[in-house]
Amino acid sequence: MRERLRSLVLRYGSGPAARVERYLHRIAHPTPRPAADAPGWVITPEALPEPFALAPGRSGSDLMNAAAKRTWYHTFEFEGGYRIEGYDPTGMKVKLFGVPEQLAGKTVLDIGTYDGYFAFDAARRGATDVLATDSWVWLWPDEDSHGNFQLIKEYTGLPVREQIIRVEELSPEALGDAFDVVLFFGVLYHAPDPLGYLRRVRSVTRGYALIETVVDLLDIDRPAAAFYPGAMLNGDPSNNFGPNLAAVHGLCTDAGFSRVETLAMWSPHLVENLAGRPIDLSKPPTSGRAVFRAWA
Ligand SMILES: C[S@@+](CC[C@H](N)C(=O)[O-])C[C@H]1O[C@@H](n2cnc3c(N)ncnc32)[C@H](O)[C@@H]1O
Repeated sequence: MRERLRSLVLRYGSGPAARVERYLHRIAHPTPRPAADAPGWVITPEALPEPFALAPGRSGSDLMNAAAKRTWYHTFEFEGGYRIEGYDPTGMKVKLFGVPEQLAGKTVLDIGTYDGYFAFDAARRGATDVLATDSWVWLWPDEDSHGNFQLIKEYTGLPVREQIIRVEELSPEALGDAFDVVLFFGVLYHAPDPLGYLRRVRSVTRGYALIETVVDLLDIDRPAAAFYPGAMLNGDPSNNFGPNLAAVHGLCTDAGFSRVETLAMWSPHLVENLAGRPIDLSKPPTSGRAVFRAWA
């Protein structure tokens, strides 16, 4: 599976991304594309994350008993071989999403944290202050994610703060400050107003934001975004737009970020896969997911 994904990610790097880069160069927003063997571009098993340590006095088997009664999005691994299986390929994402190995001295904001994996991961990488925010899934009736977050916090003892707040309400005043590193993973394609969301993200970013999203229309050499009316993408009415790479760069720039880099792509052919459409693997994907670093 990893080998297949690796070859797809490598192939992806030589297709529409290159055309988009040429376009970006023409409009004076040069964004060097990583070499095929650059860190973060290729998935390597040895780079998958270490298991989380448990807080003193906390037992892995007690955690497993508590976790078994709940539904999980993120997949967590703990010392002693304990594992909580979510339906998200979290380990693979960590490798691709560009979070630095060391976050000592940095403040980190994780927007749309869900079960909180990336917030807890930032805390164990040494961040001095981590704030995890969410609204949607934390407020749905009968949804486990907010309790999951609190369970992981209790069993790891990691110092992650939380705040229930919508993206539409984010501001330095609402959060108390801006943050050195902002994680904005898996939220942008939900936005009915992508530029408005990115302006909010920019307002709370002091250093840079890592932005991960569905991307689409990768065969179009102009900034463009696919619109998914109703529940067209994955049967989920909360999915709204899949921008192409040039559109993400342009949106970030218009939102006030000074510089944008494309870091990695994964899940090629995502939109076609979700729709059950046949895929011609000899052609570059026209959709997938991608990660960007946008500097304040
Ligand atoms: C696909 S999940 C991504 C979870 C996690 N960031 C990751 O990448 O693994 C989207 C998350 O964004 C949150 N979200 C979406 N729209 C939001 C909004 N307008 N305000 C606050 N949270 C939102 C959802 O509640 C959910 O936790």
